[in-house]
Amino acid sequence: MITRPTLHKATRILNRRAHSSVSADELSHFSSLASSWWDPMGPSRVLHLMNPLRHDFIASCLASGPPSTTNITSDNTSDKHDTNSNKNNKNTLRYLDVGCGGGIFAESLARTIPSTPNASATRTQAGSITAIDPTTALIQIARDHARTDPHVTSHVQTGKFTYRNCTLEDLIAEKQQQQGGDGEKFDVVTLFEVIEHVDTNASSSPLGFLTNCLRLLRPGGWLIGSTIARTFPSFLVNQVIAEAPWPVGVVPRGTHEWSKFVNPDELEGWAQEGLMRAADKGGVVAGAQALDGMRWVCEGVVYFPGFGWKLVPGSENWGNYFWAVRKGV
Ligand SMILES: C[S@@+](CC[C@H](N)C(=O)[O-])C[C@H]1O[C@@H](n2cnc3c(N)ncnc32)[C@H](O)[C@@H]1O
Repeated sequence: MITRPTLHKATRILNRRAHSSVSADELSHFSSLASSWWDPMGPSRVLHLMNPLRHDFIASCLASGPPSTTNITSDNTSDKHDTNSNKNNKNTLRYLDVGCGGGIFAESLARTIPSTPNASATRTQAGSITAIDPTTALIQIARDHARTDPHVTSHVQTGKFTYRNCTLEDLIAEKQQQQGGDGEKFDVVTLFEVIEHVDTNASSSPLGFLTNCLRLLRPGGWLIGSTIARTFPSFLVNQVIAEAPWPVGVVPRGTHEWSKFVNPDELEGWAQEGLMRAADKGGVVAGAQALDGMRWVCEGVVYFPGFGWKLVPGSENWGNYFWAVRKGV
């Protein structure tokens, strides 16, 4: 006989699935890549090669507009505690890495968290990182790999670096339960090569996903990502050439669906709409004032075989690009 608690639990899980941005096909595709994720010559090779540029791009965003840490104490008590314990530490930014996969970026960022409070600030100023991904096999690989570096392991042990196997929607629901629906927020949310994998269904869209990322961002904070434009050159490069059989192709067949790629102007529009939606509170609809102080940055990147990824200003519509939105203070 099915008991009432079991029925409630099953209903909760079904409701969560119905509102999930994660598609079963994506989960199965990424699970199949887990065992080779950290092979620098394997199917995730282009992600490994792109990683140093991510640090450069984040550093340039932070240099152009630092997250306003003056708001930290007014937001909530756990932030207050963090500020006090970090008062000598210049690396105080809280990062959330959404869709972290096997940890290529998250782990490299964790390596920049200083071990001592008096150490000088690093370019990305990471003080802590929470990295989330819905693919269980990838989170397992990420946790295993973190254990191979004692410096990273020490941050896992102190709770400064955490991997979680959950969806963005799970995290939002959790935060809404904390502190009257406005739980702790992050200074920087990163979203590298993820938005083009978000499921579009009756209750999920890339705009809704982006809005959820912005909801988790502190005023003055940055949402930073990379994705691929939906243009003819990107079709040729990212679908035809990149997914061609070895030795031409550099990513596994089925990694991308060209129709899910996002153009820079579309993404900028979603960022604006997302900021307004994220500012809506209890029936009060936030208008254009939610865009006050917003910043938008977008830079194209091109992969040159033998040389790696390079920033190429003006190439945003050719294919891959970095983008960032700063929430007004
Ligand atoms: C191309 S990988 C990028 C991984 C990582 N961000 C990196 O660049 O190294 C895409 C990741 O997005 C995750 N993903 C797919 N759909 C997602 C969703 N709806 N929400 C969050 N993550 C998702 C996958 O599990 C996978 O780890």
